[in-house]
Amino acid sequence: MGKSFHDQLVTTRDSKHSKDHLFFELWSQGKLTKKQTAVYCAQHYHYVSEYLNWMAYEASQIPFRDVKAYLFENLGDEENPDDRHLDMLKDYVAATGLSRDSVEDSVVLAGTEGLQNWGWRLVYQTPWQAAVAGMFVGLESQFLDICKKIVPALHKHYGFAPGDRQIRFFEEHVRADEIHGAKGFVIVEKYCNTPELQSLALRTVEAATVRRWRYMNGIYWYALHGKEDDTPSLQA
Ligand SMILES: [Fe+2]
Repeated sequence: MGKSFHDQLVTTRDSKHSKDHLFFELWSQGKLTKKQTAVYCAQHYHYVSEYLNWMAYEASQIPFRDVKAYLFENLGDEENPDDRHLDMLKDYVAATGLSRDSVEDSVVLAGTEGLQNWGWRLVYQTPWQAAVAGMFVGLESQFLDICKKIVPALHKHYGFAPGDRQIRFFEEHVRADEIHGAKGFVIVEKYCNTPELQSLALRTVEAATVRRWRYMNGIYWYALHGKEDDTPSLQA
């Protein structure tokens, strides 16, 4: 018997999962400075700010109540005025010695902009069943595994105690994304209900992982080597 659609989604995502990127390997081993980890957070901010807009847009386009409800629930958690997730991210950045404002003011790296722009094309131009596969499985569900890798390092190498307010962003996403991620898979599996939609969903998940990986490359080169672009030089 062939693999289930669920397993194919997981396999496709995991074949280029950003948790395996060298940047997170180094972070998990305590080999990045706190300021280098803050570079990740600033780019994550630029990416997720758009992700939230994609969810709001998709909620306006999809006629099914369970999908709408999921999008609004997810968005409500993210944008809870008393406990906005992106504010938690700024708490971490402040703990690295940078200002909270530095997050919004930071450069949008080319790979980050590529991911932002790809996401808009995704929601505008791809059938919504595949677009939500790209968003929930290809992008959002990755963050759970990333946080599972980062959180132990924050305790072991970076001097944070479990439950510290400054690292809530990462600890909270192990909890929240376990729930969101599972519901996201259920929706994708329910509505990608033809061979064509399933095949498109798998291709979209693959495309999402590629864009996210390029975004990680940009973060790596900027955080570790100060490189913002690929301008060639004779010394290279
Ligand atoms: Fe979040």
